[in-house]
Amino acid sequence: MHMITAIIRPSSYQAVREALTQLGIQGITSTQCQGFGRQRGQTEIYRGAEYEVLEVPKLRLDVAVSGAILSQAIEAINNAARTGKTGDGKIFVTSLKEVHRIRTGEVDEAALT
Ligand SMILES: Nc1ncnc2c1ncn2[C@@H]1O[C@H](COP(=O)(O)OP(=O)(O)OP(=O)(O)O)[C@@H](O)[C@H]1O
Ligand SMILES: [Mg+2]
Repeated sequence: MHMITAIIRPSSYQAVREALTQLGIQGITSTQCQGFGRQRGQTEIYRGAEYEVLEVPKLRLDVAVSGAILSQAIEAINNAARTGKTGDGKIFVTSLKEVHRIRTGEVDEAALT
């Protein structure tokens, strides 16, 4: 099992959501966030000094998936969130040790789907 953390443009959310649910993914956590990539946000002059404006609004998606659909899920996010312009976002993948559905006590794969 893996946890996919995707930082995307808020405007890409509907397309990403649809693409992931079409794969049978049952849940997504979305969080409004802000960050910067290698462009370091935009710079701004204020009282003669240049400041970095680091806060670019983004959406963070956390999606737990089985290994069987990991590559399809990544492809789906890439295709749905790509505009080709800087700031499209990033996808981070980490190993997921355990999943528990609180209501039933199901664990791991049974708790994912
Ligand atoms: N190394 C990183 N660690 C954590 N978050 C990151 C990292 N790089 C980017 N992000 C997050 O992803 C968001 C979008 O990044 P962005 O798409 O600008 O990446 P980039 O590496 O600058 O690529 P591009 O050149 O396509 O813009 C950032 O606002 C930030 O929230
Ligand atoms: Mg960038």
